[in-house]
Amino acid sequence: MAYDLTGKVVAITGAGSGLAQAMTIGLAEAGATVVALDVSESNLSETMNMAASSGASGNICPHVFDVSDEAYCSGAVSFALRECGGLHGVINCAGLGMNFLDPDFHSRPVRFWEADTVRWNKIIDVNLRGPFLLAKAAAPHLLEQKWGRIVNVTTSFNTMIRGANMPYGQTKAGLEAATNGWSEDLEGTGVTANVLIPGGAADTRMIPKESPYDRSKLVKPQVMIAPARWLFSSDSDGVNGMRFIGRDWDPDANWRDAMKAAGAPVAWPDLAAGAKAGQPAKMT
Ligand SMILES: NC(=O)c1ccc[n+]([C@@H]2O[C@H](COP(=O)([O-])OP(=O)(O)OC[C@H]3O[C@@H](n4cnc5c(N)ncnc54)[C@H](O)[C@@H]3O)[C@@H](O)[C@H]2O)c1
Repeated sequence: MAYDLTGKVVAITGAGSGLAQAMTIGLAEAGATVVALDVSESNLSETMNMAASSGASGNICPHVFDVSDEAYCSGAVSFALRECGGLHGVINCAGLGMNFLDPDFHSRPVRFWEADTVRWNKIIDVNLRGPFLLAKAAAPHLLEQKWGRIVNVTTSFNTMIRGANMPYGQTKAGLEAATNGWSEDLEGTGVTANVLIPGGAADTRMIPKESPYDRSKLVKPQVMIAPARWLFSSDSDGVNGMRFIGRDWDPDANWRDAMKAAGAPVAWPDLAAGAKAGQPAKMT
């Protein structure tokens, strides 16, 4: 399904690489104005160069920023409103992987007691605290506008709980839980909170060249584009507290069929669905 997102302004973190880079270019090609946020100026330049080849760079406002810093997050919202024509939502995609904790983590698993505390803190700051800071900064404007989207990029459930994968896994479990809580806080406001994930290890910088994966089998970052475009269209109005898997989203299908195939309630579905229906939790 093709969408014309002209007039929509979307802020994306981590826009200089990987999944967010693909969504930045894909949303800009669909006509949206994209506020491309990244701590790395050289990564942002790479995105702008790639977007230039498809003529979409004119729709992208690059902005160097650190998602773990509250002043940068409120500054990014002001920048979007002042310089980019508004703000219709944020995609929290910037993240640090286990390679930030230890570049050799693929060959030598890092147990939790071996983790460097400063690096551990930074992963929590970027992956978990950062999405909160940006969503908090954006929420007042989105609520006043009575239309908006918060899209959080988490990960597969097994990745959240695997050994030798902390604190990466726990940040993503925390963000998944937060998305359910935020969706309840936002219910009925016109602003929604949902999760979007690729659906497996994806071919980005986060998966280093030395990793044991067959790169040809990694999920392509471009699987994020079609569901991201839909999430910023009016077709997804009222879709709140859901989790979408990019790999399972058929870009050629009717959006209702694509949503059904790729979507489920966010977080731990039995618990979240039960809580929404006012039923007692099955687990404590
Ligand atoms: N690659 C995968 O297999 C995979 C799978 C599931 C989920 N994810 C999640 O998707 C998101 C994107 O991952 P990716 O694979 O595209 O990673 P990537 O490493 O290719 O890109 C991450 C980007 O985030 C930026 N960044 C890092 N710290 C930042 C900060 N403090 N402020 C602003 N920007 C910052 C980096 O400069 C980089 O451009 C992450 O949250 C990741 O956890 C990735």
